[in-house]
Amino acid sequence: MFKKSKLYTLVAMLFIAATILTACAPPAAPTVAPTQVSAPEATQPPKAVLSVGIVLPTKDEPRWIQDETRFKEALGKAGYDVQILFSQGDSAKEKANVEALISQGIKVLIICPQDGTAAASAAEEARAAGVKVISYDRLIRDTDAVDYYVTFDSVAVGEAWGDYLISKATGTGNNLYLYAGAASDNNAFLFFEGAWNKLQPKIADGTFVIKNSSEAVAQQDKAKLTREEMAKIIGQVTTNWDFTVAKNLAEANLTAAPAADKGTVFIVAPNDGTARSIADAFAADKDVTTYFITGQDAEKASVQYIIDGKQSMTVLKDVRTLVADAITAAVAFLKGGTPEKTTTYNNGKIDVPAKPSAIVTVTQDNVKAAVVDSGYYPASDFTGLP
Ligand code: BGC
Repeated sequence: MFKKSKLYTLVAMLFIAATILTACAPPAAPTVAPTQVSAPEATQPPKAVLSVGIVLPTKDEPRWIQDETRFKEALGKAGYDVQILFSQGDSAKEKANVEALISQGIKVLIICPQDGTAAASAAEEARAAGVKVISYDRLIRDTDAVDYYVTFDSVAVGEAWGDYLISKATGTGNNLYLYAGAASDNNAFLFFEGAWNKLQPKIADGTFVIKNSSEAVAQQDKAKLTREEMAKIIGQVTTNWDFTVAKNLAEANLTAAPAADKGTVFIVAPNDGTARSIADAFAADKDVTTYFITGQDAEKASVQYIIDGKQSMTVLKDVRTLVADAITAAVAFLKGGTPEKTTTYNNGKIDVPAKPSAIVTVTQDNVKAAVVDSGYYPASDFTGLP
């Protein structure tokens, strides 16, 4: 969370950095319309161009609109124009966005890759142009052209799913259905790794029985999986982060499953959008009596699903924190320094310095405290808050 004093320091740092940089920057030749940020408050410094470009993966998921909104809030308050460009799920568009930003003289690129491996060439172009590259939320893979990784603790997200499902299971033989994110997203592996850390011992001791993945069954005695082993499982149960793919896969799994594999079910769903699709499919099956289902992002629609008892939990990744961390890292680079590092993430080529942020498990029990009382969303966005 943003402490007020921290925000003021950040605003001051941004102003100094932008003033220095705009003074020495060559005149920009804008080829892409900048995202307009709200007018600065009277007490804030005047609007200035910050030499940072931001590229986000898609407008089609509320998660990334949330990031855009929080970036605009943080930078708008400080009185800056920044460019926030969307790749719309297309790596070629992502590369064109990066090239447009480089041509406008950015000094720092904050980029959440659509496809972690495909984004390497855009990162390399930025590096070659002297631009610092901050991988945002998702790690860019297989290149040394990544200077920093701003992220949540994604393994902890998967562990939170595992802990939640374990807390709801009794006895043995509980039906477990696994779903994963897109294989092109490094996070899908980290989330799966976290879930496996917790669930595998409970599969090995018979608490859970995997119902929808022969690849996961084949690995169920192994506590630690290699990336290749995870890739096989993810390949079988991927939603590709797509609501329709998730719905179709859940329906296909339910069609294939005998009634005995239904009843009370436990579902690892990889994020809120896919969780709602999967939950709807399970809720529509007459042989499913009760389901427990995970999620992440605390999307408004899923917060409402949790209030209504249609989704069991979500993981709040407070985007305000991620945005603040990204801006702090950008300012550190603009000032010629290096951002704070508490750990590293291997991207297949190098260990990328990072400072992962904590996550919060949200259920019906704490939904009001976690997402409303914390100031994340207004109460008026929901009905029936406990
Ligand atoms: C993000 C999630 C998001 C998912 C789909 C992941 O990389 O960490 O928050 O739900 O992508 O966009």
